[in-house]
Amino acid sequence: MSLRLEPVTRVRLTSLAGDFASCIERSQGPVRRLGNMFETRRETAPLGAHGLSFMVEVANANGEATALFDCGLRGDVLRANVGYLGKDLRRVDAIFLSHGHPDHYGGLAEALALTRRGRRRSPVPVVLHRAAFRERCWAWADLRGGRYRLDPELLTRPTATTVLQEGPGVFLSGRLLFLTMIPRRTPYEGRRPGGQVLYRTRRAWRLDDTPDDGAVVAHLAGRGLIILTGCGHAGVINTLAEAVRQTGIPRVHALLGGFHLCGASPRRIAATVRDLKKFSPRYLIPSHCSGLEFEAALKAAFPRGFALDMVGTEYRFESP
Ligand SMILES: [Fe+2]
Ligand SMILES: [Fe+2]
Repeated sequence: MSLRLEPVTRVRLTSLAGDFASCIERSQGPVRRLGNMFETRRETAPLGAHGLSFMVEVANANGEATALFDCGLRGDVLRANVGYLGKDLRRVDAIFLSHGHPDHYGGLAEALALTRRGRRRSPVPVVLHRAAFRERCWAWADLRGGRYRLDPELLTRPTATTVLQEGPGVFLSGRLLFLTMIPRRTPYEGRRPGGQVLYRTRRAWRLDDTPDDGAVVAHLAGRGLIILTGCGHAGVINTLAEAVRQTGIPRVHALLGGFHLCGASPRRIAATVRDLKKFSPRYLIPSHCSGLEFEAALKAAFPRGFALDMVGTEYRFESP
């Protein structure tokens, strides 16, 4: 155990951008579907677009704090969903970027605009790992067409604040842990399933294992850890194990986010489900890139704790 994570009594997560948007899923337990397809006076509904973005609110006796985790692929979609849900992003204390893939940083310029606060409209700090600035490309695309890079200009203007994390760190008065540089210890999680990504060094393009991949973690008093992943490139089991190791808290209450098991083999899916059971999570909420086969396997293995994330869903977790 190397970091002290302050316990909180309430964690509220709101899905602001994601691959799925439907207003017909049911609210149940901590899951509240806020999108309303029967509200005919509204001219819009939650919009789906590839990627992920969550608003993260934590509270304890010391007060409340709010973070934005990732920004989705498109700023216009983020703005539309924030408006639909009536969320005020000026309350955000920090933006966390899970990694440097465009479906997570694409909406960053819009997020920076929406989160500026105070009379001087100061920008909020953005927390990320240095490797998020790598120039990358999809290994199956041609090098010119498939190249992308998080624009460092966005974060190095004199008014912007950037926090480069070389490893895990705690934020929001110790109430939110940002995990990055997650050790890859689970043998079957060594290689990402499906298509690969390359990054550019001075001399060549190399296979990218996304060391920047990160997650945010809160400790809900009396319940355990709440873990939110972006794409889960580090592997869900590696991420859970590292969250437990860093905090010294063995109980996992909820795991949410992108688990990047789209295209995974049946063997890997079965091994992941088997190893997830060892953590006995109460809630499992896949989103974004988790993959239909893995989502189905999770639903079968955790029938009482499963929910599929949809844009416009709020998850309310409270201490007993
Ligand atoms: Fe992603
Ligand atoms: Fe990704």
